[in-house]
Amino acid sequence: MSELTIAMPKGRIFEEAYELLIQAGFNLPAEMEMSRKLMIEIPEENIRFILAKPMDVPVYVEHGVADIGIAGKDVLLEQGRTVHELLDLKISECYIASAGLPNTTMDEIAPRIATKYPEIATKYYKGIGEQVEIIELNGSIELAPMIGLADRIVDIVSTGRTLKENGLVEYEHITDVSSRLIANPVSYRLKGARITDLVRRLKKIVNEQVKDA
Ligand code: PRP
Repeated sequence: MSELTIAMPKGRIFEEAYELLIQAGFNLPAEMEMSRKLMIEIPEENIRFILAKPMDVPVYVEHGVADIGIAGKDVLLEQGRTVHELLDLKISECYIASAGLPNTTMDEIAPRIATKYPEIATKYYKGIGEQVEIIELNGSIELAPMIGLADRIVDIVSTGRTLKENGLVEYEHITDVSSRLIANPVSYRLKGARITDLVRRLKKIVNEQVKDA
């Protein structure tokens, strides 16, 4: 049985992804959740985990240093990498929306959009025929309208708390987001049996959870 390398996102998504793998019957150590280690070998499962920044998971998978990975649909849409999307894990569900200060319109001549998703935002505004200037930020996007850097933001909304606590309102719902299981196309061919088995086990849990919801 060949070894499988799985790229896991650190941070928010990790916990849900870890739980899903446990429920799918993988024997993963409990300390994995707390550990600061970036590479964890599970010899009993013949699996190696790489713990990566969510934005970097598709990079590892596209380059084939990870066979599979768990990545947000937001990251996949933004980066458009050559990976196979195998399964919607239905975890970390949220959406991308535009937001801004209440009762405001966008500047008619030079509307500015702050976002960490320049591709998604560009495509969206192009699609609705708006010409905008994209201002790329790396986080705390909600600050932009508050301090006059942008008319709108394009960002993830999960509970809606960050918008609310910063006095912003949602304007347009752009797209739904959840975590996906992705695979390197070559690994998918060479390690097909192992990957298909993993997909089957995860699919069963995902379907059960959807039924129970
Ligand atoms: C994300 C996103 C929003 C927030 C939305 O930020 O960019 O700011 O979560 O969540 P909510 O609707 O539940 O409030 P993240 O915490 O990843 O940090 P960031 O500001 O560094 O992007």
